[in-house]
Amino acid sequence: MRMPRGGRVFLATCLGSLFALLLYYQSITKPEPGLKTGSRQGKTRRSPLQTLYNGEQQLELLAAHRSLPGRRELLEQACVSHTRKRRVLSPEDLKHLIVDDEHRLIYCYVPKVACTNWKRVLMVLTSDGRYTDPLAIPANEAHVAGNLRTLSEFSVSEINKRLRSYLKFIFVREPFERLVSAYRNKFTRNYNTAFHKRYGTKIIRRHRPNPEPKALREGNDVSFQEFVQYLVDPRTQREEPFNEHWERVHSLCHPCLIHYDVVGKYETLEPDSQAVLRLAGVEGTVKFPTSGKSTRTDGNMAARFFKHISPFYQKKLFNLYRMDFLLFNYSTPEYLRTR
Ligand SMILES: *[C@@H]1O[C@H](CO)[C@@H](O)[C@H](O)[C@H]1NC(C)=O
Repeated sequence: MRMPRGGRVFLATCLGSLFALLLYYQSITKPEPGLKTGSRQGKTRRSPLQTLYNGEQQLELLAAHRSLPGRRELLEQACVSHTRKRRVLSPEDLKHLIVDDEHRLIYCYVPKVACTNWKRVLMVLTSDGRYTDPLAIPANEAHVAGNLRTLSEFSVSEINKRLRSYLKFIFVREPFERLVSAYRNKFTRNYNTAFHKRYGTKIIRRHRPNPEPKALREGNDVSFQEFVQYLVDPRTQREEPFNEHWERVHSLCHPCLIHYDVVGKYETLEPDSQAVLRLAGVEGTVKFPTSGKSTRTDGNMAARFFKHISPFYQKKLFNLYRMDFLLFNYSTPEYLRTR
């Protein structure tokens, strides 16, 4: 079909605006699953999501609150741009989603992103008053399977009911800071013998030329370089899924299939946590523990560890964690050498 240039431009403009309109139409008609007013015992109450998205209240919200809807939108857009086919979730996919029926909350825990403290807070909230202070709960207690309920334990209809109406939140962290934190915690501390035996010995066997018998036996001196080689080796994920400490958030929490209402960030942990507790209406019930000890990093730890990784492996590692960078708006680190 031949058309004068002006005509083509006009047609393109029309199509463009039609497309934009469709998107807009979709966005205003798309039912917001959690927006229904929760009604319990005949009494209606404002759902946490209404609090979050109600324009008139927006003004009095903390600065942390204000960045939350933008993050959620960015996540949704990134999912549209970077994921191809949608699949159906199975209960197996929901093992990281912790449920608090009393306060209608769902939290997807990500190791190395303050998950111990969030589990403690949820134990307080679900304890019927048995606990009041999160820090009185020992860390290992917070990780005992069975102390908290996960969404995977429910029937499909009970799962859907909760996914539709609860406040769903997640906390994320710069992917390489999280990875280095996992490496340091699991491979450079003497006490983590279980990880040394389970993963360290295997990593050394595969990725260290001429290892000492002691290193092969104990697996307690894995270098960051060797750990990276293990991660990008295709055999690793063929054999079994990554351990949750280095598994990607994308795979642990399925953020493109589950529409999280709040995406909190480790980099702004305290205000974001406060915002979640406030939205959940439990600000007065429990306080998020502030980090007393200085385990929080300066946000530049990864740069030091990546200095010793070759560009070849840096690139492979970046590809592996790419989705977590894209979905949660973390920019490509400046120190990365990928050529
Ligand atoms: C995404 O990151 C950029 C750069 O750090 C920042 O300026 C922007 O506000 C972020 N967007 C959202 C929605 O958080």
